[in-house]
Amino acid sequence: MIDILICGIFGHMGRNVLELVNADAETRCVAGVDLKKGELCGVPVYDCFADVKENVNAVIDFSCAANLGNILDFAARTGCAVILATTGYTDAQLAQIEKASEHIPVFKTANLSVGINLLQKLVKESAALLGNAFDVELIEKHHNLKKDAPSGTAYMLAESVNEAFGGEKNYVCGREGLVGARKNTEIGIHAVRGGTIVGEHEVMFAGEDEIVTISHSARSKKVFAAGAVKAAKFMYGKPAGKYNMQDVLAGK
Ligand SMILES: NC(=O)c1ccc[n+]([C@@H]2O[C@H](COP(=O)([O-])OP(=O)(O)OC[C@H]3O[C@@H](n4cnc5c(N)ncnc54)[C@H](O)[C@@H]3O)[C@@H](O)[C@H]2O)c1
Repeated sequence: MIDILICGIFGHMGRNVLELVNADAETRCVAGVDLKKGELCGVPVYDCFADVKENVNAVIDFSCAANLGNILDFAARTGCAVILATTGYTDAQLAQIEKASEHIPVFKTANLSVGINLLQKLVKESAALLGNAFDVELIEKHHNLKKDAPSGTAYMLAESVNEAFGGEKNYVCGREGLVGARKNTEIGIHAVRGGTIVGEHEVMFAGEDEIVTISHSARSKKVFAAGAVKAAKFMYGKPAGKYNMQDVLAGK
């Protein structure tokens, strides 16, 4: 049995993950951490990692980027794996994750859905085939409660496109005013917020007189929760290092 702690357990994603962790025969949720202590479906919830008494194999985190240090400290102290699903990390925090992965098994992805990970491959291939003759613009749409913009997934997809260009492109987030003609070195990223949209990502390759669009639409938060459980099972017994959804799908 894989013992899991869910960080951000009272949140939208935390509750979805709890349901799937407890429904899976190989996993169980032994504790939660959130801003307030309490209990959820019989699981003790703590307001700080120092109070956690349970033995934990993996932390699944869907809380907030500012909580990163507490999670990495807990993993370093207990030897558990971490599944970082939270988005909005700064460059300094990304460097901190990189460093931590030298002694902790760290899984990190901005998007846990299988479909988005397929999209990553498709947009990279498309960019390599279409080249500089096509302008790449990304449009992402999310619910009105999302805190960070553009989404971590939009950046992840932009990175995949940029890999095909040897990392030469710059990201331009939104445009306003007299910005002048679009430069060939740009990848435009645009964030739409409204209602209860779970998550939509569209990568548009606009050429002369033709447009290729590749898109993904998440219809429920369950796709991310299912990916988190899959990741926790994949990480069981893994040595220190950095892992992502591509590793899970490849069964590495
Ligand atoms: N990687 C993915 O596939 C994926 C999918 C969906 C959401 N997300 C990300 O997951 C995060 C959470 O999303 P959500 O929709 O569940 O948000 P939410 O606001 O509903 O839930 C966040 C929870 O974390 C708790 N929290 C905040 N700060 C905390 C702290 N310092 N310590 C402990 N708990 C804390 C909040 O009290 C809340 O219960 C966001 O960053 C979101 O972008 C990632």
